[in-house]
Amino acid sequence: MAKITIVGAGNVGATAAHVLATQTPHEIVLVDIVEGLPQGKALDLAQALAAEGRDARIAGANSYGPTKGSDLIVITAGIARKPGMTREDLVRTNAGIVRDVAREAAARSPHAVMMVVSNPLDVMCHVAHAASGFPRERVVGMAGALDSARLAAAIAHEAKVPVKDVHALVLGSHGDLMVALPGRCTVRGEPLARALPRERIDAAVAKAREGGAEIVGLLGTSAYYAPAACIARMARAILDGTGEIVPCAALLSGEYGISGAFIGVPVRLGEGGILEIVEIGLSSDEKAALAKAAASVRELADVALGRA
Ligand code: NAI
Ligand code: 2OP
Repeated sequence: MAKITIVGAGNVGATAAHVLATQTPHEIVLVDIVEGLPQGKALDLAQALAAEGRDARIAGANSYGPTKGSDLIVITAGIARKPGMTREDLVRTNAGIVRDVAREAAARSPHAVMMVVSNPLDVMCHVAHAASGFPRERVVGMAGALDSARLAAAIAHEAKVPVKDVHALVLGSHGDLMVALPGRCTVRGEPLARALPRERIDAAVAKAREGGAEIVGLLGTSAYYAPAACIARMARAILDGTGEIVPCAALLSGEYGISGAFIGVPVRLGEGGILEIVEIGLSSDEKAALAKAAASVRELADVALGRA
């Protein structure tokens, strides 16, 4: 049975624990700084499984002792941007949190794979990578799966087809500089351009790009059901060693002509984390958009790592 530590027992962390616990028997440890929160959620989750006649191994903790020997560490700890805070302020605050969390968790589980979820995603991957000391194969960021799912949902809505008939792909950084690849999207195996006119494709891409902000506007907090589903998808690929190709943030070292930046690319996930960074053919515009996103991530990573 795989052991999973989820740091941050807030909306995303606790919902991910629920999805993971209902899919496959795992040992799950929820960690948070708020006393009682991870313990209370762990109890509630265990009782939710009991209601289905299933045993659970879910614990909550305010320290890292119980996380020892985890196979997967999921980092969802952090704060949301508050009024008056600049993007750099948020980066510095969350960098401090992610640095401490990654260091503590990695020390107890030196062979784990680390999945970063906290925002700004690609920059926090840099922080977790530096603090954990893990090789690049064992640090991945969850965002491309979510952005691609949002694009798939928008295309299915526009084309009025079941979402399982849609394949959508979004690379780049999580945020304004995401790189949607409509030329790589298909509907029932046919190019997207055959299913939708240009302006409806643009509308679907805009819907995906604004997906996170739209939900924040409606809820007053960020999304968690879809993020949790994507965490679970990536966790399954890693822990079950499926070799599934999932768009996620990985530290590039020459792939796509980019080095030294975490950026969303197609990644083959399996036992041990990243098995392969899959290089697909991109147009010169798409390559330029990816390079622009990487430059922006590098700039903010310098702030986060105290190099700027
Ligand atoms: P939340 O506020 O509900 O939960 C965050 C939790 O982290 C809180 O319970 C808090 O007490 C805990 N925390 C803060 N500092 C900590 C520390 N030092 N050690 C342990 N726990 C600590 O927030 P939510 O909605 O769960 O979001 C979590 C993060 O995930 C945010 O940074 C958010 O922006 C990000 N996010 C990323 C997505 C992605 O696609 N990568 C999608 C959705 C959210
Ligand atoms: C999202 O995309 C805010 O990263 C969060 O929903």
